[in-house]
Amino acid sequence: MKRIAIAAAILALGIAAVTAQGGDPIAQRKEAMKAVGQQTGLGARMARGQAPFDLAQAQRIFATYAEAAGRYGSLFPDNSQTGGETAALPAIWANKADFEARIAKWGQDARTEGAKVTDLDTFRAAFGAVTRNCGSCHETYRRPQS
Ligand code: HEC
Repeated sequence: MKRIAIAAAILALGIAAVTAQGGDPIAQRKEAMKAVGQQTGLGARMARGQAPFDLAQAQRIFATYAEAAGRYGSLFPDNSQTGGETAALPAIWANKADFEARIAKWGQDARTEGAKVTDLDTFRAAFGAVTRNCGSCHETYRRPQS
């Protein structure tokens, strides 16, 4: 009996580990966008002069965008169109090539514009240019937020 219980416990642990790494693309893409949203909030404060300009923080914003863009497209497998309180619209799966092109452009803009930042003025310009990608994608591919 004891052996069976231990085996079951090990099996359960294994399943938990698989879920944590591999598993839930909806949770992972929400998590990725949450981090993007957080960094964007910090960026908006700097751009408005509500927080002091900080070059390392500025670079972290663009790096977070580039990192998210690098894996975002892989988080929309066919079996993740519904569930998990997703706000993703069916248009994503109907226009996969366009959706992926927008992700790639966002990542490219983050790298190109991010590399130009040296001070508050260049940050404002770069941040403005890169964050135009957010609304234009959400408009088409994300359920409007109430
Ligand atoms: C290429 C398309 C695309 C781009 C570019 C994009 N997003 Fe998103 N975003 C989405 C989609 C799709 C969702 C909904 C995902 C889901 O719910 O499954 C989303 C969700 C979000 C969320 C909600 C996360 C949550 O808690 O569930 C935030 C916040 C967000 N995006 C912020 C941003 C910001 C800020 C930018 C720009 C810096 C950005 N996004 C760029 C497609 C995009």
